[in-house]
Amino acid sequence: MSELLSKAQTYQEQRQKEISLEQRPGFHVSSPVGWINDPNGWSLYQGEYHLFFQYHPYNTQWGPMHWGHMKTKDFLTWETLPVALAPDESYDRDGCFSGSGLEKSGQHILMYTGVMGEKQVQCIAIGDGVHYKKIANNPVITGEMLPKGCNQFDFRDPKIWEKDGSYYAVIGSKNQENDGQVVLFESKDLKQWNYVCQVGKSNHEYGAMWECPDLFQLDGYDVLLTSPQFMKAKGLEFHNGNTTLCIMGTLGENGKLIEESKQAIDYGLDFYAPQTLLTADGRRIMIGWMQSWDNYLTPEHFQWSGMMSIPRELKVKEGRLFQNPVRELLDRRKNPVQRDVVVDKENPVKGCIKGRQFDLQIKVNKVQGQELEIRLACGADCYTSIFYQPDQKMITFDRTYSGFYKDFVCVRKMKIDDFKEGMDLRILMDKYTIELFVNDGKYAMSSLIYTELSYQDIQFHADGKVELEINKYDII
Ligand code: FRU
Repeated sequence: MSELLSKAQTYQEQRQKEISLEQRPGFHVSSPVGWINDPNGWSLYQGEYHLFFQYHPYNTQWGPMHWGHMKTKDFLTWETLPVALAPDESYDRDGCFSGSGLEKSGQHILMYTGVMGEKQVQCIAIGDGVHYKKIANNPVITGEMLPKGCNQFDFRDPKIWEKDGSYYAVIGSKNQENDGQVVLFESKDLKQWNYVCQVGKSNHEYGAMWECPDLFQLDGYDVLLTSPQFMKAKGLEFHNGNTTLCIMGTLGENGKLIEESKQAIDYGLDFYAPQTLLTADGRRIMIGWMQSWDNYLTPEHFQWSGMMSIPRELKVKEGRLFQNPVRELLDRRKNPVQRDVVVDKENPVKGCIKGRQFDLQIKVNKVQGQELEIRLACGADCYTSIFYQPDQKMITFDRTYSGFYKDFVCVRKMKIDDFKEGMDLRILMDKYTIELFVNDGKYAMSSLIYTELSYQDIQFHADGKVELEINKYDII
């Protein structure tokens, strides 16, 4: 084992014990120590789900990328494993960037991007679920293997799969005109790879570089997920900066995606670089990095930075990507509380439910007025709002009053095309994470708040009269 890897493993082992469990989320992945970003290598291996992630254990800022490692059986209880990869080879000396994983004949295959200076190359490591070894043939794909017109330097984040005896990988990229694209490579033996085609591209509309692609079949569609950088906002669907994009359609004979629809994957402030796996029982489960590149709010006294979203079951219905927390969460629901409440202008409802670690379902039955405001994590001097706005067919997340003076980007809105009476809102909160699912997961919105954990009250305010059916469960 290299010195760099063993140093990272020892450091993690010693330092993660010092972090109090009280401060950590209850069922979401959080960084063992130091910084994490993108989920990597999200795969089923020997009956357990392995999650790797971009990792800089030594402090809470991004730095030379390692791969951290955890595994789970139920998507909610996580075991931390030794750091899997360190930037210890000439071809990845400036970082082991994002990539993916695959089980093959009892081996766990990882494919990742090695960074050396300006160059980004694709590499393979093979392991047994704990120890991983980079293969002698690395790098197996270099920028020179891209066709003319492609930028050879922004070329990263391979997502690998196997089909009919061949391996395939989609890789994020852009062309020389700064137009984001995803390219496909193929191999028979993991060592020798060939360029196949460009699967999809931005056409100067959806960002200048496409990061962290994923391609899979779901409910009769071919689905391409990617995380565009440098996006310019488009209505309320896509916001400025780093965002997420789902393209659904059919792969043509030539491997190109014939597009039928495009949408954001998540409308919140903190969701990026999602990746999916297929479970043994055939579910497609997505997990994303629950943080934004553009807004860093981790409190200074934290020894760790970065969380993952709740793993989400995906479906395609009504031509849209639906997502819901994994069904395993239902077994963790405790202390059910059921309330029917009437909120009106003069009588906001306060103190009737509380918590920071819960699964909350709210059915909004009758609304007279323009707006219902659900306030979460209410404390002495702050709260976080979700506005329900039937006239505008809108849901707004607003953390303006959550208490962060550095939080300049603090509001997100999502348009609900089928806004209707009796609509269901599901709010999953785990200390700092707020994940909102509307209309059975047709719309999702994920954002972070790092407020005092003693701020627990959940309140309802309205400018008219609203009737609510509330079902709340603690997740412990
Ligand atoms: C996305 C990303 C990837 C890259 C990694 C580096 O968040 O920029 O494209 O591989 O992070 O940490």
